[in-house]
Amino acid sequence: MSVEDELQATVDAMTRPGRGILAADESAPTIAKRLQAVGLESTPEIRNAYRALLLTTAGLGEFIGGVILFEETLGQKSADGTPLPQCALRQGIVPGIKVDAGKIPLAHAPGDEITQGLDGLAKRMEGYKQQGARFAKWRAVYHVSDRLPSQLAIDANAEGLARYAAICQESGIVPIVEPEVLLDGDHTIGHCAETTEAVLHAVFHALHRHRVVLEHMLLKPSMVLPGKENARKSSPGEIAESTIRVLRRTVPAAVPGIYFLSGGQTPREATANLDAINRLGPQPWHLRFSYGRALQDPVLHAWRGQPANAAIAQQALHTRARLNSAASQGRYEASMEPAPE
Ligand code: 13P
Repeated sequence: MSVEDELQATVDAMTRPGRGILAADESAPTIAKRLQAVGLESTPEIRNAYRALLLTTAGLGEFIGGVILFEETLGQKSADGTPLPQCALRQGIVPGIKVDAGKIPLAHAPGDEITQGLDGLAKRMEGYKQQGARFAKWRAVYHVSDRLPSQLAIDANAEGLARYAAICQESGIVPIVEPEVLLDGDHTIGHCAETTEAVLHAVFHALHRHRVVLEHMLLKPSMVLPGKENARKSSPGEIAESTIRVLRRTVPAAVPGIYFLSGGQTPREATANLDAINRLGPQPWHLRFSYGRALQDPVLHAWRGQPANAAIAQQALHTRARLNSAASQGRYEASMEPAPE
């Protein structure tokens, strides 16, 4: 198979109707924080048990087309000895891998951050592919304030995302390009819209310079939202309109899918907002979800490391995945939510 055919086959498998992406690629410090929130210590055994629980959820493949894993998980196994990437594949879920090496302060740009991990990336990609990964993810973050992000941070992160995406495509790996405008702060929804537009404009300019084939990548942006500390909340309808306006101005129609991150929205907010976005009518791209916290928080709280809770934890994941699948088609209703405990 040519590299182009390989990339196309992966995109086709991931974008099958009604399916989103499960982001389960928390780095060591992040998963430690999430586990600690439910009273668990982050050991390799606990991480293995938790991620095996996610990937062996029966019926998940009906709503999830891809799962983003952390490097450690690629080498872990389920209780019956099946490698975890294989557990995903069995359900028709394409395994992917987070390949960035996290963020550091950007020199000469106080308050801004830059994502690192390009050195040796092509070589690492070969190993990940042998372990079953078919797509990758790289996340750049943008802080919002009166003076952030600087143009320097916007340009430097766009360049990093584009170089990463080009390396992925040369290796036959589909890149997920993730520019995340952070929710922290008291900025208005209008300020978030302006920032997101500037960020996406720079990202697609850089992707073009690096000859990234738009048909063979997926975009994972943040929704356009008011800052978490802004007193004025926006309705799902307002969020949907602002988000679609920015995306229509910046994302070429050749991109097959836009998979939103949840970024600190509650599970219900993330589902309701995605649904409102899809209710605005047909757009050039699939508009779906690539949620971490919004899919996993209810699972972790149900599980708490107890084998006896495995079934209700998997039920919680199945439910959130099903509701987000409905939202990806503009068919979610609040009445579909499970009754509170
Ligand atoms: P959240 O949905 O929790 O924001 O995580 C998605 C993700 O992959 C962040 O990089």
